[in-house]
Amino acid sequence: MIRLLPLLASLLVAWAGSVLAQQLLDWSPEEVRAIGQHGPWPPPPVRDLSNKVSGTPAGIALGEHLFNEARLSGDGRMSCATCHQAGREWSDGLARGRGAVELDRRTPSLWNIGYLHWFGWDGAGDSLWAQSLRPLLDPREMNGGPMRAAEVLRGDATLACGYERAFGRRPGTDDEQLLVDTAKALAAFQATLVSPRTSFDDFRDALVAGDREHASRYPLAAQRGLKLFIGEASCNLCHIGPRFTNGEFGDIGIPFFVRPGEVDSGRHGGLGRLAASPFNLLGKYNDDPTGNTTRRTRHVQRQHSNFGEFRVPGLRQVGRGGPYMHNGSLATLNDVVRHYSEVSPDRLHSDGIALVRPLGLTTEQSADLVAFLRTLDAEPPIRPAPSSLCP
Ligand code: HEC
Ligand code: HEC
Repeated sequence: MIRLLPLLASLLVAWAGSVLAQQLLDWSPEEVRAIGQHGPWPPPPVRDLSNKVSGTPAGIALGEHLFNEARLSGDGRMSCATCHQAGREWSDGLARGRGAVELDRRTPSLWNIGYLHWFGWDGAGDSLWAQSLRPLLDPREMNGGPMRAAEVLRGDATLACGYERAFGRRPGTDDEQLLVDTAKALAAFQATLVSPRTSFDDFRDALVAGDREHASRYPLAAQRGLKLFIGEASCNLCHIGPRFTNGEFGDIGIPFFVRPGEVDSGRHGGLGRLAASPFNLLGKYNDDPTGNTTRRTRHVQRQHSNFGEFRVPGLRQVGRGGPYMHNGSLATLNDVVRHYSEVSPDRLHSDGIALVRPLGLTTEQSADLVAFLRTLDAEPPIRPAPSSLCP
């Protein structure tokens, strides 16, 4: 009997563990509905009507090659993949992007980028292709100049062949058209970057289906954190929908001073740049014959309250990324939750409705929120090497 005691004890521990792991908090019908809104995952692919190669296999294949093409940069050494790295959740792990110089903003992850409607932290892009064009030209990023993309497409037999397959013609002599087409192929590729399913998705689907047994496998701390997220902490006012973002802009009190005397005005400046861009959806490069894709751009109006607003980031894979915020000013998820817990109301805009207020979370509540956020992460499958463009 004495010899059996350790065995019995360990059996007891295992049994208690399995009972503890099998708990489900009470969820009201409203809460189940709110949680249901964060799925299902993955959503069906979207086609961007403003981009004629969106969703086409030949456009996607060309785009993947161009994404890794360093000859598109002024010094021949930097590609999109230098800053948006597959192994780093399509970002670079830095607080601020580093091109020819250090930028003022962090490199965003490209996961689920095809589902957005405004691009960049400030929304200066109204299409994924217009946003993809910007780093090619920006002297602080790839510094390619308007002719670089055209020269590369015309000068490389394989890329020229890939271009012909995607666009149905040989690369012509109109440099600006080739630049836009380069950006459209890049966009077609990026729209395929959809983040993997997570343990949150399993929980969400089970809860919605009424499968309590399956739902109770989701860790209790994450359940408590989720309850806060959709309840008391109201995180889902902005981080809503399957991607955990409304795709719009907000001010959560992150300081927007870049250096003494200089501010990043966020959405306010972004709307100015959007209106001035010859590549916005109102311009001649929009491929959409219906005109429906111009609606948002036509109606958006710059307001004083846009000053210091930044785009609400999606939260899928968030724990695998960081640092956080548009300027990389918060290092960890714990720091982010502390920010929401302690944010000073003085730093928030006084006009408009205050959507963010200091939450004053307990240590346990903060840990629960972080535990929940971490269930939005999963290991992405290893990507196969790009297949050859024109074998
Ligand atoms: C030097 C690093 C760097 C390089 C190179 C770079 N990017 Fe970026 N990328 C950034 C930064 C920083 C931002 C945020 C810009 C902003 O909001 O002003 C960004 C933003 C974006 C966005 C918008 C993401 C979002 O969430 O709205 C897309 C799309 C994008 N880049 C695609 C590309 C493509 C395509 C290339 C290659 C042609 C490229 N990037 C090259 C650093 C880089
Ligand atoms: C008013 C809308 C709003 C609410 C409410 C809100 N957020 Fe945010 N969230 C944002 C915006 C906007 C940013 C980016 C701010 C910036 O970069 O300056 C952000 C950034 C984040 C980030 C960093 C993501 C990244 O990639 O940098 C996390 C994590 C986050 N929020 C979690 C939460 C949690 C948890 C709550 C609830 C406690 C919450 N948010 C409530 C709008 C909101």
